Amino acid sequence: MIHYQPMRMADVGRAPIDCQGTEDEVRARIADLGASAILAFDGKQHVGQLQFRRYDPALRSPAGIMDPLYWGDFGQANAPSLPPGTLNLFCYHVGQLEAGDARDSRYHGRGIGVALLEAFVNWADATGVEATVAKAVPPFRPLGVFMGGHPASIYEDSGFETVARWCDHDLRDRLPNVLAGEHGDGVAAALRNLCDQGFTLDELAEVAMVVRRRQ
Ligand SMILES: CC(C)(COP(=O)(O)OP(=O)(O)OC[C@H]1O[C@@H](n2cnc3c(N)ncnc32)[C@H](O)[C@@H]1OP(=O)(O)O)[C@@H](O)C(=O)NCCC(=O)NCCS
Repeated sequence: MIHYQPMRMADVGRAPIDCQGTEDEVRARIADLGASAILAFDGKQHVGQLQFRRYDPALRSPAGIMDPLYWGDFGQANAPSLPPGTLNLFCYHVGQLEAGDARDSRYHGRGIGVALLEAFVNWADATGVEATVAKAVPPFRPLGVFMGGHPASIYEDSGFETVARWCDHDLRDRLPNVLAGEHGDGVAAALRNLCDQGFTLDELAEVAMVVRRRQ
């Protein structure tokens, strides 16, 4: 049975913080917001997390999708006016057992990603977070699993509204590398299959901005 909890000070040094920044940055974020992620545990084993930060409309990723700031870079999207204190969901790490890039795929497709989002929404509402924004990935599961994000449909099921869609140049620029196998044979084969079905790389790189206001 998987359980979910907000990442608190006591978890720093125990749970992996890849993509969250340094320990000091994570501590500062927890002091500011009360938590920096929702963690998933299988018994005592960390098996996933959903990270978040304050929303900053001016944030830009210095390295496209290869930098965690990608999740806070809405580039071409026209953000609606959002209240101060709006949070920004970053990446999901379902299947992460320890620090590093390895993911245990036995934890994928078991509802943990959706449950992390539900746990976040419950925590955010209980904490008084007025709005949350996220970048939804293209609706092709292998890409979502590679990138660490949900498509807009999953967010809409949790009360988010899609406010913008666009071809994400950062993602579009990376897809040839994905096709070339730089991120593993599995995602390369799945992407090639989508191209063979007639999807263009521009279509495969369509992301969305989703917003949820406190209910
Ligand atoms: C992308 C990710 C968040 C999805 O989470 P998950 O726990 O695997 O997915 P879930 O079981 O919650 O399912 C999510 C949705 O995908 C669907 N789904 C699950 N497995 C599927 C499959 N094999 N094929 C198609 N759809 C599938 C589910 O039906 C569900 O949709 P629904 O609620 O409408 O039914 C997760 O795979 C992940 O974090 N991967 C690692 C990413 C990562 O760490 N990358 C590095 C980034 S820095």
